[in-house]
Amino acid sequence: MTMSMNSSNNYKVNTVTQSGVDTSNWGVKQNMETSAASENTIFGLNRHASTQPRSKVVMNAAAGDDIGFSVSGEFAGSTKDDHFDDIVSASPKVNKTARRMGSKARTRMILAALDKDHEGSWGDVDRNYVIGGNWKSNGDMDFVNSFPKEVLAKAEFDEKKVEVVVAPTDLHLNAVQKELKDTHVHVSAQDVSQYGRGAYTGNITADQLTDMKIGWTLTGHSERRTLFGESDADVALKTKIAVENGLNVMLCIGEQLEERESGKTGEVNARQLQAVVDELTEGQWGNVVIAYEPVWAIGTGKVATPQQAQDTHAEIRAWLADAVSPEVAGATRILYGGSVNGANCADLIGNKDIDGFLVGGASLKPEFADIIAAAHNDQKK
Ligand code: 13P
Repeated sequence: MTMSMNSSNNYKVNTVTQSGVDTSNWGVKQNMETSAASENTIFGLNRHASTQPRSKVVMNAAAGDDIGFSVSGEFAGSTKDDHFDDIVSASPKVNKTARRMGSKARTRMILAALDKDHEGSWGDVDRNYVIGGNWKSNGDMDFVNSFPKEVLAKAEFDEKKVEVVVAPTDLHLNAVQKELKDTHVHVSAQDVSQYGRGAYTGNITADQLTDMKIGWTLTGHSERRTLFGESDADVALKTKIAVENGLNVMLCIGEQLEERESGKTGEVNARQLQAVVDELTEGQWGNVVIAYEPVWAIGTGKVATPQQAQDTHAEIRAWLADAVSPEVAGATRILYGGSVNGANCADLIGNKDIDGFLVGGASLKPEFADIIAAAHNDQKK
């Protein structure tokens, strides 16, 4: 197969599917011409440079085709020029052509060949939805004795498609759990100790939660980070001890307003996630759901637009593919949180990288059932 830049011959660029991908046939190939050249081979490009935004793209090519580049709408967080840059450093020959087109190399690339069957998109992978309700420091026994019965137990959803999890205060966990015992709604803690049992006044340990048959916890909520001074490293240790004890974790990340306005969203999310990547094994990501909660949208009524949320989720997924693995990127549920309500949830959930919500204020109201219904009714999966 010969490959050269030919801008008039464009192929659709897809992100890689994770399900069933046998990555054993991925390899570092510095020169595209030496890559496997079977009919309809798909080539994946993986940017490897810690200081650059990471990306991974795959394109279709039949043997003998010239490869050009088109960036489909599905591939967020990149531009045509970025792809030229990627290719440039993959092959000296293409490099020359791309230079003529006005791009220059910035990063080293890994070039991988995949079978046709593995074409697809991380975003298209079938992931169950998660709808989380974070009650924060709200609720009393009247609420605990009524809301689960009157709203949660009556919410209709397919539990194979949607996981519903509510996080009352620790004090109310047990009572809410009892109220929900004949339902498919799970309960979660809002936080967990980064330590084991011992002299840690005020902390509740991961194994105490599992002992109480609590299956979930949040970690890294922005209120913990900003009001209680939790560092990225603290959050990573909490996440690690939680998954080591068999808990599922909703790991919250997100940027402040100034960070978004100064174009640092990707950097902040990557920094917060990297601390967790450093602590977890690849397999432990199976217990982690990421909740992307831009801080400026939390409790403000100012929701991210569906496009802003989708773009950021796609960027997080691409980052995960690079930092952990394509399999983890494809399998990890990424929830949006920040002023989600019954009126805006349907527009948000329709985006392919949005796998559910972490809801604050509206999770204390009957409209939480509408948010669950929006996930249940969504047809993208
Ligand atoms: P709101 O839905 O009230 O904005 O809160 C979001 C949140 O912080 C969920 O964890």
